[in-house]
Amino acid sequence: MIRIVVLVSGDGSNLQQLIDSCHSGRIRAQIVGVVSNEPNAYGLERARLANIPTQVINHREYADRASFEVEVTRVIQEWKAELILLAGFMRVLTPAFVNRYSGQMINIHPSLLPAYRGLNTHARVLETGDRMHGCSIHFVTSDLDAGAVIAQAVTNVLPTDDLAHVTQKVRKLEHHIYPLVVSWLAAGRIALLGNKVYLDGQELQSPICIYL
Ligand code: GAR
Repeated sequence: MIRIVVLVSGDGSNLQQLIDSCHSGRIRAQIVGVVSNEPNAYGLERARLANIPTQVINHREYADRASFEVEVTRVIQEWKAELILLAGFMRVLTPAFVNRYSGQMINIHPSLLPAYRGLNTHARVLETGDRMHGCSIHFVTSDLDAGAVIAQAVTNVLPTDDLAHVTQKVRKLEHHIYPLVVSWLAAGRIALLGNKVYLDGQELQSPICIYL
């Protein structure tokens, strides 16, 4: 079974879905460790409750991004991980680190990329008045939130929706789509070649799109 490391910084609700999906067999893989750059991230507790090894690598204790990433790399290697999942991991990664794990590292982002790269996506969607919103799962490349998108889940935004509603709606989408995409990756059905995504050997002309 493929060996997965998950990187988190916060609550870890996506991590929880991934843990549950590995346990149920929906994802045929093993989460061999969870890394957090935040010592108090609740995601660490979720991992401990599931008997998954954890490692805190507090970025504040490192002189720069590169030395922080040396430690992250060491842990990933120690755990012999083959797939790296960013699940609410809020650190920008250097090109050297990203390139090292090209095709092996994916991220979930709370917007319909390429729209709303970066932070505070829900607030920006509400400010703009968009009626469609969602989340994207993409391969990580050195351009922030700009790697090839594998899949997106879409929901509507109602005029009455506030920030809490929108956050909740999109989080629900994330919990649905992340385990699904990881199950495909774990089964070897998804690959990145150049900057193109392949599913079952066929190049995707656009991201897989799920309306919920
Ligand atoms: C999720 O909404 C995820 O998309 C977002 O952080 C949240 C983490 O929630 N990630 C980013 O914004 C990455 N740029 P969780 O800790 O409960 O999984």
